[in-house]
Amino acid sequence: MAYEPKNFDHLIGKVKGLSETQLKAHFTLYQGYVKKLNEISDKLKSADRGAPNYSFNDYSELRRREPVAYNGTILHELYFGNLGADGTGPSAELTKAIESAFGNADAWAADMKACAGSAHGWVLTTWDGNYGCIRNNLVQSEHHVGLLANNHVIYALDVWEHAYFFDYQTKKADYVANVLQAVNWKAVNDRYAAASGKK
Ligand SMILES: [Fe+2]
Repeated sequence: MAYEPKNFDHLIGKVKGLSETQLKAHFTLYQGYVKKLNEISDKLKSADRGAPNYSFNDYSELRRREPVAYNGTILHELYFGNLGADGTGPSAELTKAIESAFGNADAWAADMKACAGSAHGWVLTTWDGNYGCIRNNLVQSEHHVGLLANNHVIYALDVWEHAYFFDYQTKKADYVANVLQAVNWKAVNDRYAAASGKK
């Protein structure tokens, strides 16, 4: 299948604290992941499966890099999709889940900030289908190491330097604090409802 990049231009000028330059650079970077996902997908169709190898083999390497391009694509779509305050807040059910997991919304945000300070990449809030709760998930090493199995992402926070460096330089914590004030809660509520089955 061919993967098409989604258009997030509607965010330009709508996310407090993120400039047009910053967002456009980020969109371009995201489109690069979609391009690589298509390239890997195309090469996998005809790759020789006859001599797979842990150290090196063309097919093996395509499979090893596939999660980077795949998650680089999907996690950016989730991040852009939950970016931009929409004037709403967490739903009653999501509030209950946040309180059950973290105590309150401020504690959730404090934990997200602590995860962001510990990470060089992605911090996610997920619906954990294994234990029926939400949790925060720090993704390590590119986009693919550390993702928890059978968890559905309901909120994605990009803390790679490219996400904020134009606007914040080294003030990562300021960027994180700003973005946590600019959550599109409708998107997060919808994802939570879809993943958990709770409206
Ligand atoms: Fe990014």
